[in-house]
Amino acid sequence: MIGDNEARIFFSNSGAEANEAAIKISRLTGRTRLVATYGSFHGRTMGALSLTGQEKKQKPFRPLLKNVKLVPYGDLKAITAAITKRTAMVMVEPIQGENGVTVPPPGYLKGIQDRCLQTGTLFAIDAVQTGIGRCGSWFGWDEELSPDLVTIAKGIGGGLPLAATIIRGKSPHFSPGEHGSTFGGNPVAAAAANQVLNTIKRKKLMEHALEMGSMITTAIEKLPGVREVRGRGLLLGIVLDNSIAKELVSDLAVEGVLANATSEGVIRIAPPLIVGRREVTIFVKTFSKVMNRRLSLL
Ligand SMILES: Cc1ncc(COP(=O)(O)O)c(C=O)c1O
Repeated sequence: MIGDNEARIFFSNSGAEANEAAIKISRLTGRTRLVATYGSFHGRTMGALSLTGQEKKQKPFRPLLKNVKLVPYGDLKAITAAITKRTAMVMVEPIQGENGVTVPPPGYLKGIQDRCLQTGTLFAIDAVQTGIGRCGSWFGWDEELSPDLVTIAKGIGGGLPLAATIIRGKSPHFSPGEHGSTFGGNPVAAAAANQVLNTIKRKKLMEHALEMGSMITTAIEKLPGVREVRGRGLLLGIVLDNSIAKELVSDLAVEGVLANATSEGVIRIAPPLIVGRREVTIFVKTFSKVMNRRLSLL
Protein backbone atom coordinates (compact mmCIF):
# COMPACT_ATOMS: atom_id res chain seq x y z
CA MET A 1 0.00 0.00 0.00
CA ILE A 2 2.77 2.41 0.94
CA GLY A 3 4.62 3.23 -2.25
CA ASP A 4 1.53 2.92 -4.47
CA ASN A 5 1.61 6.30 -6.17
CA GLU A 6 -1.75 5.63 -7.78
CA ALA A 7 -3.50 5.03 -4.43
CA ARG A 8 -6.49 7.25 -3.69
CA ILE A 9 -7.80 8.40 -0.34
CA PHE A 10 -11.34 9.29 0.61
CA PHE A 11 -11.42 11.33 3.82
CA SER A 12 -14.33 11.18 6.25
CA ASN A 13 -14.93 11.76 9.96
CA SER A 14 -15.17 8.38 11.68
CA GLY A 15 -14.16 4.75 11.39
CA ALA A 16 -17.70 3.70 10.55
CA GLU A 17 -17.82 6.18 7.66
CA ALA A 18 -14.46 4.96 6.37
CA ASN A 19 -15.87 1.43 6.30
CA GLU A 20 -19.12 2.59 4.66
CA ALA A 21 -17.02 4.05 1.85
CA ALA A 22 -15.22 0.71 1.48
CA ILE A 23 -18.59 -1.11 1.30
CA LYS A 24 -19.79 1.29 -1.40
CA ILE A 25 -16.56 0.76 -3.35
CA SER A 26 -17.15 -2.99 -3.16
CA ARG A 27 -20.43 -2.47 -5.07
CA LEU A 28 -18.42 -0.98 -7.94
CA THR A 29 -17.09 -4.50 -8.62
CA GLY A 30 -20.59 -5.45 -9.80
CA ARG A 31 -20.77 -8.03 -6.99
CA THR A 32 -22.73 -7.69 -3.73
CA ARG A 33 -21.51 -10.49 -1.45
CA LEU A 34 -19.36 -9.60 1.55
CA VAL A 35 -17.35 -11.69 4.00
CA ALA A 36 -16.44 -10.62 7.54
CA THR A 37 -15.66 -12.31 10.85
CA TYR A 38 -17.38 -13.11 14.13
CA GLY A 39 -16.22 -10.95 17.01
CA SER A 40 -15.30 -8.10 14.68
CA PHE A 41 -16.16 -4.45 15.13
CA HIS A 42 -16.44 -2.19 12.10
CA GLY A 43 -18.77 0.57 13.33
CA ARG A 44 -22.39 1.35 14.12
CA THR A 45 -23.80 2.65 10.83
CA MET A 46 -26.00 0.17 8.96
CA GLY A 47 -23.38 -1.07 6.48
CA ALA A 48 -20.51 -1.23 8.97
CA LEU A 49 -22.86 -2.88 11.50
CA SER A 50 -23.74 -5.54 8.92
CA LEU A 51 -20.05 -6.54 8.91
CA THR A 52 -19.78 -6.39 12.70
CA GLY A 53 -19.99 -10.02 13.79
CA GLN A 54 -21.65 -9.42 17.15
CA GLU A 55 -25.20 -10.63 17.71
CA LYS A 56 -25.87 -8.18 20.55
CA LYS A 57 -24.97 -5.13 18.46
CA GLN A 58 -26.80 -6.27 15.31
CA LYS A 59 -30.03 -7.72 16.76
CA PRO A 60 -32.04 -4.53 17.51
CA PHE A 61 -31.35 -3.12 14.04
CA ARG A 62 -32.17 -5.99 11.70
CA PRO A 63 -32.69 -6.28 8.80
CA LEU A 64 -29.16 -5.27 7.88
CA LEU A 65 -27.33 -5.67 4.57
CA LYS A 66 -28.08 -8.97 2.89
CA ASN A 67 -25.35 -11.22 1.51
CA VAL A 68 -22.93 -10.93 4.41
CA LYS A 69 -21.19 -14.19 5.35
CA LEU A 70 -19.61 -14.25 8.81
CA VAL A 71 -16.87 -16.75 9.64
CA PRO A 72 -14.76 -17.45 12.75
CA TYR A 73 -11.80 -15.08 13.09
CA GLY A 74 -8.31 -16.53 12.71
CA ASP A 75 -9.55 -19.62 10.85
CA LEU A 76 -7.95 -19.41 7.41
CA LYS A 77 -9.73 -22.53 6.14
CA ALA A 78 -13.14 -21.12 7.02
CA ILE A 79 -12.56 -17.73 5.44
CA THR A 80 -10.94 -19.23 2.34
CA ALA A 81 -14.00 -21.42 1.84
CA ALA A 82 -16.33 -18.44 2.27
CA ILE A 83 -14.58 -16.26 -0.35
CA THR A 84 -15.75 -17.18 -3.85
CA LYS A 85 -15.73 -15.60 -7.31
CA ARG A 86 -19.02 -13.97 -6.32
CA THR A 87 -17.58 -12.23 -3.25
CA ALA A 88 -17.19 -8.48 -3.72
CA MET A 89 -15.08 -7.78 -0.64
CA VAL A 90 -13.76 -9.34 2.54
CA MET A 91 -13.10 -7.09 5.52
CA VAL A 92 -10.99 -8.07 8.53
CA GLU A 93 -9.07 -6.39 11.35
CA PRO A 94 -5.36 -7.19 11.77
CA ILE A 95 -6.14 -7.77 15.47
CA GLN A 96 -9.70 -7.84 16.81
CA GLY A 97 -9.54 -5.02 19.36
CA GLU A 98 -13.11 -5.10 20.67
CA ASN A 99 -12.98 -8.87 20.89
CA GLY A 100 -10.38 -8.94 23.66
CA VAL A 101 -7.37 -8.09 21.47
CA THR A 102 -7.48 -11.35 19.52
CA VAL A 103 -4.37 -11.88 17.41
CA PRO A 104 -4.74 -14.17 14.36
CA PRO A 105 -2.19 -16.90 13.63
CA PRO A 106 0.82 -15.95 11.46
CA GLY A 107 0.03 -16.01 7.75
CA TYR A 108 -3.71 -15.45 8.25
CA LEU A 109 -3.93 -12.07 6.50
CA LYS A 110 -1.59 -13.14 3.69
CA GLY A 111 -3.69 -16.28 3.20
CA ILE A 112 -6.83 -14.15 2.84
CA GLN A 113 -5.05 -11.88 0.39
CA ASP A 114 -3.98 -14.88 -1.73
CA ARG A 115 -7.55 -16.19 -1.81
CA CYS A 116 -8.83 -12.72 -2.79
CA LEU A 117 -6.34 -12.64 -5.68
CA GLN A 118 -7.63 -16.02 -6.89
CA THR A 119 -11.27 -14.94 -6.79
CA GLY A 120 -10.98 -11.29 -7.84
CA THR A 121 -12.30 -10.20 -4.45
CA LEU A 122 -11.38 -6.88 -2.82
CA PHE A 123 -9.29 -7.39 0.30
CA ALA A 124 -10.11 -4.70 2.86
CA ILE A 125 -8.34 -4.26 6.18
CA ASP A 126 -9.97 -2.26 8.94
CA ALA A 127 -6.99 -0.63 10.67
CA VAL A 128 -9.14 1.86 12.57
CA GLN A 129 -8.03 0.57 15.96
CA THR A 130 -4.66 -0.99 15.12
CA GLY A 131 -3.35 1.75 12.83
CA ILE A 132 -1.34 4.96 13.08
CA GLY A 133 1.48 3.46 15.06
CA ARG A 134 -0.47 1.84 17.88
CA CYS A 135 0.83 -1.63 17.11
CA GLY A 136 4.35 -0.51 16.22
CA SER A 137 3.68 -0.12 12.49
CA TRP A 138 1.57 2.23 10.39
CA PHE A 139 -1.41 -0.10 10.05
CA GLY A 140 -1.01 -2.87 12.60
CA TRP A 141 0.12 -5.91 10.65
CA ASP A 142 3.61 -7.30 10.39
CA GLU A 143 3.28 -9.44 7.27
CA GLU A 144 4.13 -8.45 3.69
CA LEU A 145 0.70 -7.31 2.47
CA SER A 146 -0.85 -5.18 -0.23
CA PRO A 147 -4.58 -4.99 0.51
CA ASP A 148 -6.96 -3.25 -1.92
CA LEU A 149 -8.48 -1.09 0.79
CA VAL A 150 -7.35 0.05 4.22
CA THR A 151 -9.52 2.09 6.56
CA ILE A 152 -8.08 4.26 9.31
CA ALA A 153 -9.54 6.68 11.90
CA LYS A 154 -9.03 7.17 15.66
CA GLY A 155 -5.32 8.11 16.02
CA ILE A 156 -4.97 9.86 12.67
CA GLY A 157 -6.77 13.05 13.80
CA GLY A 158 -4.95 13.32 17.13
CA GLY A 159 -8.30 13.83 18.88
CA LEU A 160 -10.09 15.58 16.01
CA PRO A 161 -12.62 13.70 13.86
CA LEU A 162 -10.84 12.34 10.80
CA ALA A 163 -10.88 9.02 8.98
CA ALA A 164 -9.68 7.73 5.65
CA THR A 165 -10.43 4.98 3.17
CA ILE A 166 -7.22 4.23 1.29
CA ILE A 167 -7.81 2.59 -2.07
CA ARG A 168 -5.11 0.98 -4.18
CA GLY A 169 -4.70 2.48 -7.63
CA LYS A 170 -5.75 -0.69 -9.45
CA SER A 171 -8.94 -1.13 -7.38
CA PRO A 172 -12.31 0.38 -8.30
CA HIS A 173 -12.74 3.92 -7.02
CA PHE A 174 -15.41 6.59 -6.81
CA SER A 175 -16.12 8.90 -9.74
CA PRO A 176 -16.97 12.52 -8.89
CA GLY A 177 -20.36 12.73 -7.17
CA GLU A 178 -20.55 9.05 -6.20
CA HIS A 179 -19.54 9.70 -2.60
CA GLY A 180 -18.90 12.73 -0.42
CA SER A 181 -18.84 14.30 3.04
CA THR A 182 -19.20 17.94 4.08
CA PHE A 183 -16.52 17.88 6.76
CA GLY A 184 -14.47 14.90 5.54
CA GLY A 185 -10.83 15.96 5.27
CA ASN A 186 -11.54 19.49 6.52
CA PRO A 187 -8.44 21.69 6.84
CA VAL A 188 -8.35 21.75 10.64
CA ALA A 189 -8.49 17.95 11.05
CA ALA A 190 -6.09 17.49 8.11
CA ALA A 191 -3.58 19.89 9.68
CA ALA A 192 -3.79 17.93 12.93
CA ALA A 193 -3.24 14.68 11.01
CA ASN A 194 -0.11 16.06 9.36
CA GLN A 195 1.26 16.91 12.78
CA VAL A 196 0.33 13.46 14.10
CA LEU A 197 2.12 11.69 11.24
CA ASN A 198 5.20 13.93 11.46
CA THR A 199 5.42 13.55 15.23
CA ILE A 200 5.13 9.75 15.03
CA LYS A 201 8.01 9.69 12.54
CA ARG A 202 10.18 12.34 14.18
CA LYS A 203 9.83 11.00 17.72
CA LYS A 204 10.06 7.36 16.59
CA LEU A 205 6.78 6.60 18.36
CA MET A 206 6.25 3.30 16.58
CA GLU A 207 9.49 1.93 18.00
CA HIS A 208 8.51 3.47 21.32
CA ALA A 209 5.09 1.74 21.22
CA LEU A 210 6.82 -1.62 20.79
CA GLU A 211 9.23 -0.91 23.63
CA MET A 212 6.54 0.26 26.06
CA GLY A 213 4.26 -2.60 25.00
CA SER A 214 6.89 -5.18 25.81
CA MET A 215 7.68 -3.45 29.12
CA ILE A 216 4.00 -3.65 30.11
CA THR A 217 3.67 -7.25 28.89
CA THR A 218 6.74 -8.49 30.78
CA ALA A 219 5.65 -6.87 34.04
CA ILE A 220 1.94 -7.75 33.90
CA GLU A 221 2.44 -11.33 32.73
CA LYS A 222 4.31 -12.12 35.96
CA LEU A 223 1.43 -11.09 38.21
CA PRO A 224 -0.82 -13.60 39.95
CA GLY A 225 -4.25 -13.85 38.37
CA VAL A 226 -2.93 -13.05 34.88
CA ARG A 227 -2.98 -15.89 32.37
CA GLU A 228 -1.50 -14.09 29.39
CA VAL A 229 -0.93 -10.66 27.84
CA ARG A 230 -1.59 -10.63 24.09
CA GLY A 231 -1.56 -8.05 21.35
CA ARG A 232 1.05 -5.92 19.66
CA GLY A 233 2.71 -2.66 20.64
CA LEU A 234 0.30 -0.56 22.69
CA LEU A 235 -2.86 -2.52 21.95
CA LEU A 236 -2.85 -5.16 24.65
CA GLY A 237 -5.32 -7.63 26.11
CA ILE A 238 -4.73 -8.84 29.64
CA VAL A 239 -6.28 -12.30 29.89
CA LEU A 240 -7.29 -13.12 33.46
CA ASP A 241 -7.55 -16.41 35.32
CA ASN A 242 -10.91 -15.31 36.78
CA SER A 243 -13.97 -13.48 35.43
CA ILE A 244 -13.23 -10.24 37.27
CA ALA A 245 -12.39 -7.88 34.38
CA LYS A 246 -15.28 -5.48 35.05
CA GLU A 247 -14.49 -5.27 38.77
CA LEU A 248 -10.80 -4.65 38.08
CA VAL A 249 -11.61 -1.92 35.54
CA SER A 250 -13.78 -0.09 38.13
CA ASP A 251 -11.06 -0.47 40.76
CA LEU A 252 -8.49 0.91 38.30
CA ALA A 253 -10.74 3.90 37.50
CA VAL A 254 -10.94 4.76 41.22
CA GLU A 255 -7.12 4.78 41.23
CA GLY A 256 -7.05 7.06 38.16
CA VAL A 257 -6.21 4.43 35.51
CA LEU A 258 -8.55 3.96 32.52
CA ALA A 259 -8.88 0.53 30.94
CA ASN A 260 -11.66 -1.39 29.26
CA ALA A 261 -13.21 -4.78 30.01
CA THR A 262 -13.92 -6.31 26.60
CA SER A 263 -15.41 -9.36 28.30
CA GLU A 264 -15.62 -10.91 31.78
CA GLY A 265 -12.11 -12.26 31.47
CA VAL A 266 -10.14 -9.77 29.35
CA ILE A 267 -9.01 -6.21 30.00
CA ARG A 268 -7.91 -4.12 27.03
CA ILE A 269 -5.40 -1.33 27.43
CA ALA A 270 -4.54 1.15 24.70
CA PRO A 271 -2.43 3.93 26.23
CA PRO A 272 -1.35 6.95 24.18
CA LEU A 273 1.75 6.44 22.05
CA ILE A 274 3.65 8.97 24.15
CA VAL A 275 3.22 6.95 27.35
CA GLY A 276 6.53 6.88 29.24
CA ARG A 277 8.34 4.54 31.62
CA ARG A 278 7.02 6.49 34.59
CA GLU A 279 3.38 6.00 33.60
CA VAL A 280 3.99 2.35 32.78
CA THR A 281 5.47 1.82 36.25
CA ILE A 282 2.47 3.54 37.84
CA PHE A 283 0.11 1.37 35.79
CA VAL A 284 1.89 -1.87 36.73
CA LYS A 285 1.92 -0.97 40.44
CA THR A 286 -1.74 0.06 40.40
CA PHE A 287 -2.79 -3.02 38.46
CA SER A 288 -0.89 -5.26 40.85
CA LYS A 289 -2.50 -3.54 43.85
CA VAL A 290 -6.10 -3.84 42.61
CA MET A 291 -5.52 -7.40 41.40
CA ASN A 292 -4.18 -8.53 44.79
CA ARG A 293 -7.13 -6.90 46.52
CA ARG A 294 -9.64 -8.63 44.23
CA LEU A 295 -7.89 -12.00 44.46
CA SER A 296 -8.05 -11.84 48.27
CA LEU A 297 -11.85 -11.49 48.00
CA LEU A 298 -12.34 -14.56 45.81
C1 LIG B 1 -11.77 -1.75 14.30
C2 LIG B 1 -12.76 -0.63 14.35
N1 LIG B 1 -13.42 -0.29 13.21
C3 LIG B 1 -14.31 0.71 13.20
C4 LIG B 1 -14.60 1.41 14.33
C5 LIG B 1 -15.62 2.52 14.29
O1 LIG B 1 -14.99 3.73 14.44
P1 LIG B 1 -15.84 5.03 14.86
O2 LIG B 1 -16.23 4.85 16.27
O3 LIG B 1 -14.87 6.16 14.65
O4 LIG B 1 -17.00 5.09 13.92
C6 LIG B 1 -13.95 1.10 15.53
C7 LIG B 1 -14.26 1.83 16.79
O5 LIG B 1 -13.95 1.42 17.86
C8 LIG B 1 -13.01 0.05 15.54
O6 LIG B 1 -12.36 -0.31 16.65
